[in-house]
Amino acid sequence: MTYIDVLPPLVDPAPPASARAGLIGVNRSMPRRSVAVAEQPMISVKDLTIGWGDIIIQKDLSFAVKNGEVFGILGGSGAGKSTLLRFLIGLERPIEGVIDIAGHGRPDLAAGLPPFGVMFQGGALFGSLTVGENVSLPIEEWTKLPDDATAAIARAKLKLVGLDGAADKFPSELSGGMKKRAAIARALALDPELVFLDEPSSGLDPVMSAELDDLILTLSKTLGLTVVIVTHELESIFHIAERIVLLDQVTKSIIAAGDPRELRKSEDPRVSNFFNRRSKES
Ligand SMILES: Nc1ncnc2c1ncn2[C@@H]1O[C@H](COP(=O)(O)OP(=O)(O)OP(=O)(O)O)[C@@H](O)[C@H]1O
Ligand SMILES: [Mg+2]
Repeated sequence: MTYIDVLPPLVDPAPPASARAGLIGVNRSMPRRSVAVAEQPMISVKDLTIGWGDIIIQKDLSFAVKNGEVFGILGGSGAGKSTLLRFLIGLERPIEGVIDIAGHGRPDLAAGLPPFGVMFQGGALFGSLTVGENVSLPIEEWTKLPDDATAAIARAKLKLVGLDGAADKFPSELSGGMKKRAAIARALALDPELVFLDEPSSGLDPVMSAELDDLILTLSKTLGLTVVIVTHELESIFHIAERIVLLDQVTKSIIAAGDPRELRKSEDPRVSNFFNRRSKES
């Protein structure tokens, strides 16, 4: 069994008996924050080139994500944001360069549980399972906890994301924003210290989107969670991201990195256009 097997489906079929639903969870060997070397970044990327064969999606990427921060990966549609996530979590092998997650090197699909939770772009809950069962799936898959303990953990994760009492509902009974929260609860099921969220607020209205931002910020601040977020929502980025990288599809490279509120004032027209145009639209 490899991590390919834990990828959530693109559609939402009934899960097989051994469904791993999503979910990449926790690496017990991962250092806890309290004992981690303070200066060691949670993610370090050096001279990374991603793509397949002759197809280069992005090249020479270098950046670091600090422990406990909310870090944004930005760029126009097709720039390679989701692709970069797939490489960061070890689903693809880089053409060149180095990825290190929590000092453990590049996640190895064959070696064991990775040190993060993931909410994939458009990642759906299984419609045939209750919300609680959805959140329980990774716990059932990766631990030997008894059913009642698993259910209790799932309820606690749902409470954490403001979905107290929703465990017995089916996804179809939830609003769009509640579904996103439930998907985040599933990504948090095994207490990872790092989560990747790919477009978590897509399809939400501005109020729900802002509520989700507040949830992400709260999780980061109260749990010390490191969050890597991909989003088109510039208001979200200005609100929650401490730092970002901006991927450019034309040059296939990072054209800006740092505090998004500062980058908004950039003199590079590609950068200021991205931030200001998109922000006025939203
Ligand atoms: N397995 C693959 N083989 C070849 N090309 C791929 C593969 N997966 C993605 N691509 C290409 O990589 C490019 C970047 O796609 P990606 O989904 O990463 O963009 P994105 O920045 O996440 O866009 P969006 O904002 O629309 O989600 C696209 O041109 C896509 O067609
Ligand atoms: Mg994408």
